[in-house]
Amino acid sequence: MDVVILAAGLGTRMKSSIPKILHKIFDIPIIDYVIEIAKSINPENIFVVLNPSLKMVIEHLSKYNVNVVFQKEPKGTADALITAIPKLKSDNILILNGDTPLIKKETLTKFIKLYNKNPLDMAILSFYPEREHSYGRILRDKKGNVKRIVELTDLSEKEKSLSEANSGVYVINRSTAEFAREIKKNARKGEYYLTDIVEIAIKKGKKVEAYPLAKEDELIGINTRSELSFATKYLRDRIVRDWMDKGVTIYDPQSTWISPNVTIGEDTIIYPHVFLEGNTKIGRNCIIYQGVRLKNCNVEDNVEIKDCTVAENAYIKLGAQIGPFAHLRPETTIGRGCRIGNFVEVKKSTIGDGTKAAHLSYLGDAEIGKNVNIGAGTITCNYDGKKKHKTIIEDNVFIGSDTQLVAPIKINKDAYVGAGSTITKEVPEGSLAISRTPQKNIEGWAKKRREKE
Ligand code: UD1
Ligand code: CA
Repeated sequence: MDVVILAAGLGTRMKSSIPKILHKIFDIPIIDYVIEIAKSINPENIFVVLNPSLKMVIEHLSKYNVNVVFQKEPKGTADALITAIPKLKSDNILILNGDTPLIKKETLTKFIKLYNKNPLDMAILSFYPEREHSYGRILRDKKGNVKRIVELTDLSEKEKSLSEANSGVYVINRSTAEFAREIKKNARKGEYYLTDIVEIAIKKGKKVEAYPLAKEDELIGINTRSELSFATKYLRDRIVRDWMDKGVTIYDPQSTWISPNVTIGEDTIIYPHVFLEGNTKIGRNCIIYQGVRLKNCNVEDNVEIKDCTVAENAYIKLGAQIGPFAHLRPETTIGRGCRIGNFVEVKKSTIGDGTKAAHLSYLGDAEIGKNVNIGAGTITCNYDGKKKHKTIIEDNVFIGSDTQLVAPIKINKDAYVGAGSTITKEVPEGSLAISRTPQKNIEGWAKKRREKE
Protein backbone atom coordinates (compact mmCIF):
# COMPACT_ATOMS: atom_id res chain seq x y z
CA MET A 1 0.00 0.00 0.00
CA ASP A 2 1.08 3.58 -0.68
CA VAL A 3 0.11 6.44 1.58
CA VAL A 4 -0.81 9.86 0.23
CA ILE A 5 -0.93 12.69 2.74
CA LEU A 6 -2.90 15.68 1.45
CA ALA A 7 -1.19 18.73 2.85
CA ALA A 8 -1.15 21.35 0.13
CA GLY A 9 -3.95 23.49 1.52
CA LEU A 10 -3.03 26.96 2.64
CA GLY A 11 -4.68 26.64 6.03
CA THR A 12 -6.08 30.16 5.86
CA ARG A 13 -8.54 29.48 8.68
CA MET A 14 -5.61 29.40 11.13
CA LYS A 15 -4.90 33.08 10.40
CA SER A 16 -1.18 32.54 10.76
CA SER A 17 2.12 33.25 9.06
CA ILE A 18 3.18 29.73 10.00
CA PRO A 19 1.86 26.96 7.71
CA LYS A 20 -0.97 25.14 9.45
CA ILE A 21 0.68 21.72 9.56
CA LEU A 22 3.72 23.18 11.33
CA HIS A 23 1.60 24.38 14.21
CA LYS A 24 2.33 22.19 17.19
CA ILE A 25 0.40 19.94 19.49
CA PHE A 26 2.55 19.94 22.60
CA ASP A 27 6.00 20.37 21.08
CA ILE A 28 5.50 18.38 17.89
CA PRO A 29 4.30 19.78 14.53
CA ILE A 30 0.93 18.45 13.32
CA ILE A 31 2.46 16.95 10.15
CA ASP A 32 4.95 14.90 12.19
CA TYR A 33 2.09 13.04 13.87
CA VAL A 34 0.57 12.29 10.48
CA ILE A 35 3.86 10.99 9.10
CA GLU A 36 4.29 8.78 12.19
CA ILE A 37 0.80 7.35 11.65
CA ALA A 38 1.60 6.71 7.99
CA LYS A 39 4.84 4.95 8.92
CA SER A 40 3.11 2.82 11.54
CA ILE A 41 1.40 0.68 8.87
CA ASN A 42 4.70 0.03 7.06
CA PRO A 43 3.60 1.26 3.64
CA GLU A 44 5.56 0.84 0.43
CA ASN A 45 5.86 4.60 -0.06
CA ILE A 46 4.69 7.77 1.61
CA PHE A 47 3.79 10.74 -0.59
CA VAL A 48 3.08 14.14 0.85
CA VAL A 49 1.25 16.60 -1.41
CA LEU A 50 2.51 20.11 -0.72
CA ASN A 51 2.04 23.58 -2.06
CA PRO A 52 5.35 24.79 -3.56
CA SER A 53 5.00 28.10 -1.73
CA LEU A 54 5.14 26.42 1.68
CA LYS A 55 8.94 26.67 1.92
CA MET A 56 9.00 26.09 5.68
CA VAL A 57 7.16 22.79 5.27
CA ILE A 58 9.39 21.61 2.42
CA GLU A 59 12.44 22.36 4.53
CA HIS A 60 10.88 20.68 7.57
CA LEU A 61 10.10 17.49 5.64
CA SER A 62 13.61 17.16 4.27
CA LYS A 63 14.58 15.24 7.40
CA TYR A 64 11.97 12.57 6.70
CA ASN A 65 12.19 9.77 4.24
CA VAL A 66 9.04 10.78 2.34
CA ASN A 67 8.32 11.72 -1.27
CA VAL A 68 7.11 15.23 -1.81
CA VAL A 69 4.65 15.93 -4.62
CA PHE A 70 3.77 19.49 -5.54
CA GLN A 71 0.24 20.59 -6.26
CA LYS A 72 0.75 23.82 -8.17
CA GLU A 73 -2.34 25.57 -6.86
CA PRO A 74 -4.67 24.55 -4.06
CA LYS A 75 -7.59 23.65 -6.28
CA GLY A 76 -9.10 21.17 -3.88
CA THR A 77 -8.55 17.74 -2.38
CA ALA A 78 -9.41 15.91 -5.63
CA ASP A 79 -6.79 17.89 -7.52
CA ALA A 80 -4.29 17.16 -4.74
CA LEU A 81 -4.81 13.42 -5.14
CA ILE A 82 -4.56 13.68 -8.93
CA THR A 83 -1.09 15.22 -8.67
CA ALA A 84 0.07 12.21 -6.66
CA ILE A 85 -1.52 9.44 -8.74
CA PRO A 86 1.14 9.22 -11.51
CA LYS A 87 3.85 8.67 -8.87
CA LEU A 88 2.06 5.86 -7.04
CA LYS A 89 3.55 2.40 -7.12
CA SER A 90 0.99 0.23 -5.33
CA ASP A 91 -2.54 -0.84 -6.21
CA ASN A 92 -4.05 0.38 -2.98
CA ILE A 93 -3.80 3.83 -1.50
CA LEU A 94 -4.33 5.05 2.01
CA ILE A 95 -5.28 8.73 1.92
CA LEU A 96 -4.69 10.84 5.02
CA ASN A 97 -5.30 14.53 5.62
CA GLY A 98 -2.25 16.48 6.73
CA ASP A 99 -4.38 18.19 9.38
CA THR A 100 -5.74 15.04 11.04
CA PRO A 101 -2.99 13.97 13.44
CA LEU A 102 -4.51 11.91 16.24
CA ILE A 103 -5.54 8.61 14.62
CA LYS A 104 -4.37 5.57 16.50
CA LYS A 105 -2.53 2.81 14.77
CA GLU A 106 -5.06 0.21 15.97
CA THR A 107 -7.93 2.10 14.38
CA LEU A 108 -6.12 2.41 11.09
CA THR A 109 -5.17 -1.26 11.05
CA LYS A 110 -8.75 -2.28 11.77
CA PHE A 111 -9.98 0.05 9.01
CA ILE A 112 -7.56 -1.37 6.42
CA LYS A 113 -8.51 -4.91 7.43
CA LEU A 114 -12.19 -4.19 6.76
CA TYR A 115 -11.31 -2.77 3.35
CA ASN A 116 -9.31 -5.85 2.44
CA LYS A 117 -11.70 -8.39 3.91
CA ASN A 118 -14.88 -7.30 2.15
CA PRO A 119 -13.18 -6.55 -0.38
CA LEU A 120 -14.01 -2.96 -1.25
CA ASP A 121 -12.98 -0.43 -3.86
CA MET A 122 -13.10 2.39 -1.37
CA ALA A 123 -13.49 2.60 2.40
CA ILE A 124 -14.20 5.81 4.31
CA LEU A 125 -13.30 6.24 7.95
CA SER A 126 -16.25 8.05 9.52
CA PHE A 127 -17.26 9.24 12.99
CA TYR A 128 -19.99 10.94 14.97
CA PRO A 129 -18.82 14.33 16.21
CA GLU A 130 -20.39 15.53 19.44
CA ARG A 131 -20.02 19.24 18.75
CA GLU A 132 -21.19 21.58 16.02
CA HIS A 133 -18.79 21.03 13.12
CA SER A 134 -17.94 21.63 9.49
CA TYR A 135 -17.04 18.10 8.40
CA GLY A 136 -18.52 16.57 5.28
CA ARG A 137 -21.58 14.40 6.01
CA ILE A 138 -21.96 10.78 4.93
CA LEU A 139 -25.24 10.25 3.14
CA ARG A 140 -26.69 6.72 3.19
CA ASP A 141 -29.74 5.27 1.42
CA LYS A 142 -32.65 3.61 3.22
CA LYS A 143 -30.80 0.32 3.35
CA GLY A 144 -27.88 2.03 5.00
CA ASN A 145 -25.57 1.90 1.99
CA VAL A 146 -23.29 4.87 1.43
CA LYS A 147 -24.55 7.11 -1.39
CA ARG A 148 -22.31 10.15 -1.29
CA ILE A 149 -20.54 12.69 0.88
CA VAL A 150 -21.97 16.21 1.13
CA GLU A 151 -19.78 19.13 2.14
CA LEU A 152 -21.00 21.78 4.55
CA THR A 153 -21.43 24.39 1.82
CA ASP A 154 -23.81 22.13 -0.08
CA LEU A 155 -25.84 20.75 2.80
CA SER A 156 -29.60 21.19 2.71
CA GLU A 157 -31.35 22.04 5.98
CA LYS A 158 -32.46 18.43 6.27
CA GLU A 159 -28.98 17.08 5.64
CA LYS A 160 -27.54 19.24 8.40
CA SER A 161 -29.04 16.87 10.92
CA LEU A 162 -26.98 14.00 9.51
CA SER A 163 -24.59 12.98 12.16
CA GLU A 164 -22.10 10.67 10.45
CA ALA A 165 -19.07 12.70 9.40
CA ASN A 166 -16.22 12.09 6.98
CA SER A 167 -12.77 12.04 8.59
CA GLY A 168 -10.93 12.49 5.28
CA VAL A 169 -9.20 9.12 5.78
CA TYR A 170 -9.83 6.69 2.95
CA VAL A 171 -8.45 3.51 1.44
CA ILE A 172 -9.05 3.26 -2.26
CA ASN A 173 -7.76 1.15 -5.12
CA ARG A 174 -5.89 2.66 -7.99
CA SER A 175 -8.61 2.26 -10.64
CA THR A 176 -11.21 3.90 -8.39
CA ALA A 177 -8.84 6.73 -7.51
CA GLU A 178 -8.58 7.52 -11.22
CA PHE A 179 -12.20 8.74 -11.08
CA ALA A 180 -10.86 11.81 -9.28
CA ARG A 181 -10.17 13.15 -12.76
CA GLU A 182 -13.92 13.10 -13.52
CA ILE A 183 -14.83 15.26 -10.54
CA LYS A 184 -16.38 18.60 -11.49
CA LYS A 185 -15.48 21.87 -9.90
CA ASN A 186 -17.75 22.66 -6.95
CA ALA A 187 -19.82 25.64 -8.00
CA ARG A 188 -19.95 27.30 -4.58
CA LYS A 189 -16.33 26.92 -3.54
CA GLY A 190 -14.65 26.68 -6.93
CA GLU A 191 -12.68 23.65 -5.73
CA TYR A 192 -12.50 20.04 -6.80
CA TYR A 193 -13.83 18.01 -3.89
CA LEU A 194 -12.35 14.56 -3.49
CA THR A 195 -15.48 13.63 -1.57
CA ASP A 196 -17.42 13.72 -4.87
CA ILE A 197 -15.55 10.60 -5.92
CA VAL A 198 -17.89 8.52 -3.77
CA GLU A 199 -20.95 9.19 -5.89
CA ILE A 200 -19.07 8.67 -9.14
CA ALA A 201 -17.53 5.40 -7.96
CA ILE A 202 -20.87 4.01 -6.81
CA LYS A 203 -22.52 4.94 -10.09
CA LYS A 204 -19.78 3.01 -11.88
CA GLY A 205 -20.56 -0.06 -9.80
CA LYS A 206 -17.70 0.22 -7.33
CA LYS A 207 -18.12 -0.98 -3.76
CA VAL A 208 -17.83 1.80 -1.21
CA GLU A 209 -18.40 1.57 2.54
CA ALA A 210 -17.93 3.88 5.51
CA TYR A 211 -16.89 2.64 8.95
CA PRO A 212 -17.40 4.69 12.09
CA LEU A 213 -14.52 3.15 13.99
CA ALA A 214 -13.41 5.99 16.26
CA LYS A 215 -14.50 9.23 17.86
CA GLU A 216 -13.50 12.78 17.20
CA ASP A 217 -10.72 12.47 19.77
CA GLU A 218 -8.88 10.49 17.08
CA LEU A 219 -10.32 11.95 13.93
CA ILE A 220 -10.40 15.67 14.56
CA GLY A 221 -9.31 17.75 11.59
CA ILE A 222 -7.54 20.96 12.54
CA ASN A 223 -8.66 23.97 10.55
CA THR A 224 -8.84 26.65 13.23
CA ARG A 225 -7.07 27.64 16.45
CA SER A 226 -10.08 26.40 18.32
CA GLU A 227 -9.71 22.95 16.76
CA LEU A 228 -6.00 23.03 17.55
CA SER A 229 -6.96 23.55 21.18
CA PHE A 230 -9.48 20.67 21.04
CA ALA A 231 -6.85 18.41 19.53
CA THR A 232 -4.34 19.33 22.22
CA LYS A 233 -6.85 18.51 24.93
CA TYR A 234 -7.80 15.21 23.32
CA LEU A 235 -4.16 14.19 23.19
CA ARG A 236 -3.53 15.44 26.73
CA ASP A 237 -6.36 13.24 28.01
CA ARG A 238 -5.09 10.23 26.11
CA ILE A 239 -1.52 10.61 27.38
CA VAL A 240 -2.52 11.29 30.98
CA ARG A 241 -4.87 8.29 31.01
CA ASP A 242 -2.06 6.16 29.64
CA TRP A 243 0.36 7.20 32.41
CA MET A 244 -2.25 6.62 35.08
CA ASP A 245 -2.75 3.12 33.67
CA LYS A 246 0.99 2.62 33.97
CA GLY A 247 1.00 3.49 37.68
CA VAL A 248 1.56 7.25 37.86
CA THR A 249 -0.63 9.29 40.24
CA ILE A 250 -1.98 12.40 38.55
CA TYR A 251 -4.04 14.63 40.81
CA ASP A 252 -5.65 16.73 38.15
CA PRO A 253 -5.55 15.27 34.62
CA GLN A 254 -7.04 18.41 33.11
CA SER A 255 -4.22 20.63 34.23
CA THR A 256 -1.38 18.19 33.59
CA TRP A 257 0.36 18.52 30.23
CA ILE A 258 2.65 15.65 29.30
CA SER A 259 4.23 15.68 25.85
CA PRO A 260 4.11 12.48 23.80
CA ASN A 261 7.81 11.65 24.18
CA VAL A 262 7.97 12.00 27.97
CA THR A 263 8.38 8.90 30.14
CA ILE A 264 7.45 8.55 33.82
CA GLY A 265 8.21 5.80 36.32
CA GLU A 266 5.76 3.98 38.55
CA ASP A 267 4.50 5.60 41.77
CA THR A 268 5.55 9.06 40.77
CA ILE A 269 3.03 11.66 41.89
CA ILE A 270 2.17 14.69 39.80
CA TYR A 271 0.39 17.69 41.26
CA PRO A 272 -1.78 20.09 39.20
CA HIS A 273 -0.51 22.59 36.63
CA VAL A 274 2.59 20.66 35.67
CA PHE A 275 4.14 20.76 32.17
CA LEU A 276 6.48 17.93 31.17
CA GLU A 277 7.94 18.70 27.77
CA GLY A 278 10.24 17.37 25.07
CA ASN A 279 12.09 14.18 25.91
CA THR A 280 11.81 14.52 29.66
CA LYS A 281 12.36 11.29 31.52
CA ILE A 282 11.18 10.92 35.11
CA GLY A 283 12.03 8.00 37.35
CA ARG A 284 10.01 6.13 39.96
CA ASN A 285 8.70 7.51 43.26
CA CYS A 286 9.25 11.11 42.35
CA ILE A 287 6.98 13.94 43.45
CA ILE A 288 6.45 16.78 41.03
CA TYR A 289 4.64 19.58 42.82
CA GLN A 290 2.36 22.14 41.30
CA GLY A 291 3.43 24.63 38.68
CA VAL A 292 6.60 22.79 37.67
CA ARG A 293 7.80 22.88 34.04
CA LEU A 294 10.46 20.43 32.90
CA LYS A 295 11.79 20.38 29.36
CA ASN A 296 14.20 17.69 28.12
CA CYS A 297 15.18 16.79 31.67
CA ASN A 298 16.41 13.50 33.02
CA VAL A 299 15.12 12.96 36.53
CA GLU A 300 16.20 9.84 38.43
CA ASP A 301 14.15 8.00 41.08
CA ASN A 302 12.98 9.51 44.39
CA VAL A 303 13.46 13.10 43.34
CA GLU A 304 11.21 15.82 44.72
CA ILE A 305 10.66 18.90 42.62
CA LYS A 306 8.78 21.50 44.58
CA ASP A 307 6.35 24.13 43.41
CA CYS A 308 7.04 26.51 40.53
CA THR A 309 10.41 25.11 39.52
CA VAL A 310 11.53 25.46 35.89
CA ALA A 311 14.21 23.17 34.47
CA GLU A 312 15.53 22.67 30.97
CA ASN A 313 18.11 20.13 29.77
CA ALA A 314 18.95 19.30 33.35
CA TYR A 315 20.01 15.96 34.80
CA ILE A 316 18.75 15.49 38.34
CA LYS A 317 20.14 12.48 40.11
CA LEU A 318 18.68 10.09 42.66
CA GLY A 319 16.90 11.56 45.67
CA ALA A 320 17.68 15.20 44.99
CA GLN A 321 15.31 17.90 46.23
CA ILE A 322 14.72 20.88 44.02
CA GLY A 323 12.72 24.05 44.62
CA PRO A 324 10.36 25.63 45.34
CA PHE A 325 11.06 28.35 42.75
CA ALA A 326 14.34 26.90 41.49
CA HIS A 327 15.60 27.51 37.96
CA LEU A 328 17.82 24.86 36.38
CA ARG A 329 19.12 25.98 33.04
CA PRO A 330 20.67 23.86 30.26
CA GLU A 331 23.67 21.61 30.85
CA THR A 332 23.14 21.35 34.56
CA THR A 333 23.73 18.19 36.56
CA ILE A 334 22.48 17.94 40.11
CA GLY A 335 24.08 15.11 42.08
CA ARG A 336 22.48 12.50 44.28
CA GLY A 337 20.76 13.75 47.39
CA CYS A 338 21.50 17.39 46.60
CA ARG A 339 19.27 20.13 47.81
CA ILE A 340 18.70 23.10 45.52
CA GLY A 341 16.30 25.40 47.30
CA ASN A 342 14.20 28.46 46.67
CA PHE A 343 15.37 31.13 44.26
CA VAL A 344 18.49 29.24 43.27
CA GLU A 345 19.48 29.46 39.60
CA VAL A 346 21.94 26.95 38.23
CA LYS A 347 23.36 27.21 34.71
CA LYS A 348 25.82 24.94 32.88
CA SER A 349 27.11 23.57 36.14
CA THR A 350 27.78 20.26 37.78
CA ILE A 351 26.84 19.88 41.40
CA GLY A 352 28.36 16.92 43.25
CA ASP A 353 26.46 14.42 45.41
CA GLY A 354 25.14 15.67 48.74
CA THR A 355 25.85 19.34 48.04
CA LYS A 356 23.39 21.95 49.27
CA ALA A 357 22.52 25.35 47.84
CA ALA A 358 19.37 25.96 49.77
CA HIS A 359 18.58 29.63 49.24
CA LEU A 360 18.93 32.56 46.86
CA SER A 361 22.00 31.79 44.77
CA TYR A 362 23.33 32.00 41.24
CA LEU A 363 25.66 29.19 40.20
CA GLY A 364 26.81 29.52 36.60
CA ASP A 365 29.66 27.75 34.75
CA ALA A 366 30.58 26.06 38.02
CA GLU A 367 32.03 22.71 38.84
CA ILE A 368 31.09 21.96 42.41
CA GLY A 369 32.23 18.89 44.31
CA LYS A 370 30.57 16.65 46.86
CA ASN A 371 29.11 17.70 50.21
CA VAL A 372 29.67 21.35 49.59
CA ASN A 373 27.57 23.90 51.44
CA ILE A 374 26.68 26.95 49.42
CA GLY A 375 25.40 29.63 51.80
CA ALA A 376 22.41 31.83 51.07
CA GLY A 377 23.07 34.57 48.56
CA THR A 378 26.21 33.06 47.04
CA ILE A 379 26.90 34.31 43.53
CA THR A 380 29.35 33.06 40.95
CA CYS A 381 30.46 36.17 39.05
CA ASN A 382 31.04 34.22 35.86
CA TYR A 383 30.80 37.03 33.31
CA ASP A 384 33.28 39.85 32.79
CA GLY A 385 31.19 41.58 30.15
CA LYS A 386 32.89 39.68 27.34
CA LYS A 387 33.54 36.11 28.38
CA LYS A 388 32.19 33.49 30.75
CA HIS A 389 34.62 32.06 33.30
CA LYS A 390 34.62 28.96 35.41
CA THR A 391 34.26 28.51 39.15
CA ILE A 392 35.66 25.33 40.65
CA ILE A 393 34.68 24.36 44.17
CA GLU A 394 36.12 21.10 45.46
CA ASP A 395 34.64 18.56 47.89
CA ASN A 396 33.59 19.53 51.43
CA VAL A 397 33.99 23.25 50.95
CA PHE A 398 31.84 25.60 53.01
CA ILE A 399 30.88 28.87 51.35
CA GLY A 400 29.48 31.37 53.84
CA SER A 401 26.38 33.40 53.00
CA ASP A 402 26.46 36.39 50.69
CA THR A 403 29.72 35.48 49.00
CA GLN A 404 30.77 36.55 45.53
CA LEU A 405 33.12 34.19 43.76
CA VAL A 406 34.79 36.15 40.97
CA ALA A 407 35.63 33.68 38.20
CA PRO A 408 37.93 32.25 37.03
CA ILE A 409 38.40 30.99 40.55
CA LYS A 410 39.15 27.81 42.43
CA ILE A 411 38.30 26.91 46.02
CA ASN A 412 40.31 23.84 46.95
CA LYS A 413 38.89 21.04 49.05
CA ASP A 414 37.95 21.37 52.71
CA ALA A 415 38.30 25.17 52.59
CA TYR A 416 35.97 27.68 54.25
CA VAL A 417 34.93 31.04 52.88
CA GLY A 418 33.70 33.54 55.46
CA ALA A 419 30.27 35.08 54.97
CA GLY A 420 30.12 38.32 53.03
CA SER A 421 33.40 37.75 51.20
CA THR A 422 34.35 38.72 47.68
CA ILE A 423 36.77 36.02 46.59
CA THR A 424 39.12 36.87 43.74
CA LYS A 425 42.10 34.61 44.46
CA GLU A 426 42.43 30.84 44.63
CA VAL A 427 41.69 29.48 48.12
CA PRO A 428 44.16 26.76 49.19
CA GLU A 429 43.03 23.40 50.55
CA GLY A 430 41.78 23.44 54.13
CA SER A 431 42.16 27.20 54.64
CA LEU A 432 39.75 29.98 55.56
CA ALA A 433 39.34 32.84 53.12
CA ILE A 434 37.72 35.98 54.32
CA SER A 435 37.68 39.33 52.57
CA ARG A 436 35.31 41.57 54.44
CA THR A 437 36.41 44.72 56.28
CA PRO A 438 36.79 44.11 60.01
CA GLN A 439 33.86 45.21 62.16
CA LYS A 440 34.19 48.35 64.31
CA ASN A 441 31.86 48.98 67.30
CA ILE A 442 31.50 52.60 68.51
CA GLU A 443 30.28 52.51 72.09
CA GLY A 444 27.54 54.93 73.12
CA TRP A 445 27.03 56.15 69.55
CA ALA A 446 23.28 55.49 69.50
CA LYS A 447 22.58 57.47 72.67
CA LYS A 448 24.49 60.50 71.34
CA ARG A 449 22.57 60.45 68.10
CA ARG A 450 19.20 60.37 69.87
CA GLU A 451 20.19 63.33 72.00
CA LYS A 452 20.93 65.35 68.84
CA GLU A 453 17.39 64.81 67.47
C1 UD1 B 1 -12.15 17.76 4.24
C2 UD1 B 1 -13.24 16.96 3.53
C3 UD1 B 1 -14.40 16.77 4.50
C4 UD1 B 1 -13.93 16.09 5.76
C5 UD1 B 1 -12.77 16.82 6.38
C6 UD1 B 1 -12.17 15.99 7.50
C7 UD1 B 1 -13.11 17.55 1.15
C8 UD1 B 1 -13.70 18.34 0.08
N1 UD1 B 1 -13.66 17.67 2.35
O1 UD1 B 1 -12.70 19.03 4.54
O2 UD1 B 1 -15.42 15.99 3.89
O3 UD1 B 1 -15.00 16.00 6.67
O4 UD1 B 1 -11.72 17.08 5.41
O5 UD1 B 1 -11.27 16.71 8.25
O6 UD1 B 1 -12.18 16.81 0.94
N2 UD1 B 1 -5.58 20.03 0.60
C9 UD1 B 1 -4.68 19.93 -0.45
N3 UD1 B 1 -4.92 20.64 -1.59
C10 UD1 B 1 -6.01 21.42 -1.74
C11 UD1 B 1 -6.92 21.52 -0.67
C12 UD1 B 1 -6.70 20.81 0.47
O7 UD1 B 1 -3.69 19.21 -0.36
O8 UD1 B 1 -6.14 22.04 -2.81
C13 UD1 B 1 -5.31 19.29 1.84
C14 UD1 B 1 -5.26 20.21 3.04
O9 UD1 B 1 -3.93 20.66 3.27
C15 UD1 B 1 -5.78 19.33 4.16
C16 UD1 B 1 -6.67 18.31 3.44
O10 UD1 B 1 -6.35 18.39 2.07
O11 UD1 B 1 -4.77 18.65 4.85
C17 UD1 B 1 -8.16 18.63 3.63
O12 UD1 B 1 -8.40 19.93 3.17
P1 UD1 B 1 -9.26 20.97 4.00
O13 UD1 B 1 -9.36 22.22 3.22
O14 UD1 B 1 -8.77 21.03 5.36
O15 UD1 B 1 -10.66 20.24 3.95
P2 UD1 B 1 -11.84 20.31 5.00
O16 UD1 B 1 -12.64 21.50 4.73
O17 UD1 B 1 -11.33 20.10 6.34
CA1 CA C 1 -9.37 20.07 7.30
